[in-house]
Amino acid sequence: MISRRGFLGRAGLLAAGLTLERTAPGATVPAQGALDPRTLTPWVDALPLPEVLRNSGLRASSDKPDVQLPFYRVAMREIHQKVHRDLPPTRMWGFNNSSPGPIFETRSGEGLIVEWANELPTKHFLPIDHTLHGAELDKPEVRSVVHLHGGRTPAASDGYPEDWVVPGKSLVYHYPNRQDAALLFYHDHTMGINRLNIYAGMQGLFVVRDEVEDRLNLPAGKYEIPLLLYDRFLHTDGQMEYPVSPDPKVPWVPEIYSNAMLANGKLFPYVDVEPRRYRLRVMNGSNARFFRISMGSLLEMHQIGSDQGLLPAPVSMKRILLAPAERTDFVFDFSAHAGEKILLQSDSFQILQFRVATSGTTDTSSLPQTLRPVVRIAESQAVKTRRLTLDETMNGVQESMGMMLNKTPWHMPVTEKPVLNTSEIWELVNLTEDAHPIHLHLVRFQVLDRRTMDKFHYQDKGELRFYGPAVAPGPDEMGWKDTVRCEPGTVTRIIVPFEGYAGRYVWHCHILEHEDNEMMRPYEVIAPSATQG
Ligand code: C2O
Ligand code: CU
Ligand code: CU
Repeated sequence: MISRRGFLGRAGLLAAGLTLERTAPGATVPAQGALDPRTLTPWVDALPLPEVLRNSGLRASSDKPDVQLPFYRVAMREIHQKVHRDLPPTRMWGFNNSSPGPIFETRSGEGLIVEWANELPTKHFLPIDHTLHGAELDKPEVRSVVHLHGGRTPAASDGYPEDWVVPGKSLVYHYPNRQDAALLFYHDHTMGINRLNIYAGMQGLFVVRDEVEDRLNLPAGKYEIPLLLYDRFLHTDGQMEYPVSPDPKVPWVPEIYSNAMLANGKLFPYVDVEPRRYRLRVMNGSNARFFRISMGSLLEMHQIGSDQGLLPAPVSMKRILLAPAERTDFVFDFSAHAGEKILLQSDSFQILQFRVATSGTTDTSSLPQTLRPVVRIAESQAVKTRRLTLDETMNGVQESMGMMLNKTPWHMPVTEKPVLNTSEIWELVNLTEDAHPIHLHLVRFQVLDRRTMDKFHYQDKGELRFYGPAVAPGPDEMGWKDTVRCEPGTVTRIIVPFEGYAGRYVWHCHILEHEDNEMMRPYEVIAPSATQG
C-alpha cells in the first residue's frame, strides 16, 4: 500500500532545491519520539576518522594457491556507538568495532584476501519485508554477503546477492586489485535485506592507490580526509528507525529520507584543519538521498576525481551532486580562511564544521593542472548497443508496486551477456518519475550523453521521440564511473568496456529500496572462447 506520492518526481524537486527538505507521506514520517536535530548542540564531537585496517600475515589465494597475499579478517558485529555527545549510544551493525567500518589502504596490483566473518546476532533489529524476493519467511533473518563496490573482482569474490552466509559463517574473498587508484567502498549486498543491513551500518571505505596518483603530490596523510556521508532516522533516545509502510505485512517503502545527516557516523562533527590545501574524498552512503555538497558560501572546490579515480584535469565546482554510491574527490584550499569556521553542507543541511587554525606547517602539496588522461572510447568501438528500460510497475489503482529493469524481475534468466574484452553501449531509458543511480559491478564506464524523451510515446509505441539534442556530461563527469545518475524521462547512454573477468555479476539501481525490490538484474560476462563456433 505504498502511496504513489512516494515517487513524486525527484528531479523537478531537485532542480527547485527542494529534494532534501521533502518528506514523502508513508515513506518518511518517523514514529513518535523522532529527534529534532536542531535541538542538539552542533560541533561538539570530533569527526571520527576510520581506523586503517592491518593485515594479519599472508595467505594463499584459492584461485592461485602458490601466491601468498596479505590476509585481513573483518567481522560484522552488533555495536553501540555514539552519534552525538548528548545522545545515548546507538545500536548499529558495523565491521570490527565501528560503523562505518575500518578503511582499507591498498595499492593497485597488490592483491589481498579478506575473510568477511558474520558475527551478527541471529535476529534482525530492522523490519524485514518477507514478501520481497530473497527475503521470504523460509530464509534466515540475518544473512550477509559483502561486495566491494567499484572493485574489478573475480565473480566468486564479488559478493553475489544470493551468496549470503548466516551468523557464525564467513566468506573468504580475493581482491586482485588490478585497477587504477580510486575510492571504493565495501557494503552488504544480501538479497532482499541489503537496504536494512546497510542502513544498520554495514559499509566502509576502500582506497586503492597507484604511482600515477603518487606522482601528483596531492595533499596526503593527515591532509587527506575520507568522508562517508549518509542520513538516518534517529529518535530522541539515540536509536535508529527504519520507516515502514502502513501495511505491517508489506513494510517495504519506496525510498527513505531521514532527519539526521551523519559524517563518518557522527551528527554535526567538527574537524580541525590547517590553513592549507586538503584533499577531501566523499562518498554518499545514503539509502536514497542525493547530496548536493558545497563548502561555506559556495566556495570553490577543485574536483579531481569521481567514482573510478582521477579526472583528466581539476574542475572548479561550487556544488557537487552525489547520488547514493557516487564518490567525489576534491581539493579545498583553506589558506585564505585562517581562523575561520567553514561548513560542509548539502543544500541547507549543515553536516561538518572545519575549524581552520590561524597558522600551520608549510604546504608542499600541489594541485596539478592535469591529473590522469582519460581516453574517450569511440562509440564505433562498441560491438553492441543495448536499450534497457528503467520501469515503474503499477497495480490497477495506480499505486506503485516498485521498480524494475527492462521489465524483468531478478529471477528471470540472464539477458545481458557481454563478451569479455569487448565494449558495449547501454542506453538506459528511464520511464519512471524518479532519478536512479545505476551501477554495474566489475566494470568502469564512461558517460556518453543524456537526452530527454517522451516516455509516454515510448510506452505506447516502443520508440524514442526526443525532446532535444543529446547533452554531453560536464567535465566533472568526464572520468571513469561505476554509477550513473539516470534522470526521469531521459535516455542516459554509457559505454562500457567489459574487462577483467568472465562470470556472473549484477547491475542495479543504487537506491537501496529499489534494489531490494526487483530493480536489480544478473548479467554475465562471457569468455570469448565460449562464444566461438
Ligand atoms: Cu554498491 Cu551492487 O553495489
Ligand atoms: Cu558494485
Ligand atoms: Cu532506483
